[in-house]
Amino acid sequence: MESGERGGAVELARGVYWVGAIDWNGRDFHGFTTPEGTTYNAYLVVGEKTALIDTVKADFAGEMLERIREIIDPAKIDYIVVNHMEMDHAGALAELKEHTDASIFITRRGRDILDGYFKPSGCDDWDFQIVRTGDQLILGSKTLVFLEATMLHWPDSMETFLIENSILFSNDAFGQHIATSKRYDYEVGDLIPAAAEYYANILMPFGVPLLRYLGRLKEYGISPKQIAPSHGVVWKRDLDKILKAYTTWANGKVREKVLVIYDSMWGSTEIMAKEIAEAARKAGVEVKLLHLRKNTRNHIMKEMLDSAAFAIGSPTLNNGIFPSVGDFLAYLKGLRPPKKKAAAFGSYGWGGGAVKTIEQELKNSGVELLEPGIQVRYRPEGSELEMCRDLGRKLAEISKE
Ligand code: FEO
Repeated sequence: MESGERGGAVELARGVYWVGAIDWNGRDFHGFTTPEGTTYNAYLVVGEKTALIDTVKADFAGEMLERIREIIDPAKIDYIVVNHMEMDHAGALAELKEHTDASIFITRRGRDILDGYFKPSGCDDWDFQIVRTGDQLILGSKTLVFLEATMLHWPDSMETFLIENSILFSNDAFGQHIATSKRYDYEVGDLIPAAAEYYANILMPFGVPLLRYLGRLKEYGISPKQIAPSHGVVWKRDLDKILKAYTTWANGKVREKVLVIYDSMWGSTEIMAKEIAEAARKAGVEVKLLHLRKNTRNHIMKEMLDSAAFAIGSPTLNNGIFPSVGDFLAYLKGLRPPKKKAAAFGSYGWGGGAVKTIEQELKNSGVELLEPGIQVRYRPEGSELEMCRDLGRKLAEISKE
């Protein structure tokens, strides 16, 4: 078991407790660099019956069980709600099931995925209740309503609303990757930057299902007083702010902002990058110059969230792109940033190849490609530097459209 905070269940409302785990030392979340760690949130809802909403990563099962024991013997949990089957939320299920015969409430897709993960270790004797949007689980004085949230973040994802206390247990949506001993937004300052980085790297490809989901909340008359995600802290003070931000991000709304993303071997691509960035800056827009080995992928994607246009540059290495550029382009392709225009640039010595590869990958990422890219042999000079400045001005103009 990894070390973590011990004890300390937190009551969010009468009979509703945070019983999750704090991963102070987590520095990588499947490719997302987490310098501040993260949390895996589980919530215990106690009425006449008791439900546990989500579990935690397997390594943290003991920490969660310890917090549950402060409230109730785990054997007395009647129901487990699995909002999402990814292992950061369902990993501790096997250990938890050694302590309780609780029935598991899960979507049909979640049930299928659960089989994939737990069949080898044995889940045939677990009791499953398949739920759909609108289904309710009554705990006596408390009522849970299930809302499928397909692709937020996997096909199985759902969220759970506690009617009497007006708390939305939103699983991955509205999360932040931070480790903190605090449990509420008003205790930790402005959370929007952390939420933006999380959104850009986890939910960016799913703007359309997200808007559909937000519409469904309205349709069901759900206006939560707290949003309790499965990573980070609970939204209570800044509910309107985060809901508005999610609507903005899901719509792919951008502003006058240009990114110049690059790596460089012997400085030529860097000269080009700085020339592009400076020209865009002089054209009056916000610019970020982002070296790929000095910025994390997730920081760059956070910057991309509200940028209208970007350029990406690479030196040519063995007739192709530089490894850090390839890494970033692979990441970008998965996240498919909406409503972006982009151009390629780079340098070479003899065969070339970097710019062509970048352009192909940009097309595969769903961004609108501005052609042709700029290729420079050895050191950029004269008209080549002017081409870079032209590109900077063009990116700035596009971002003002
Ligand atoms: Fe936090 Fe999709 O798991």
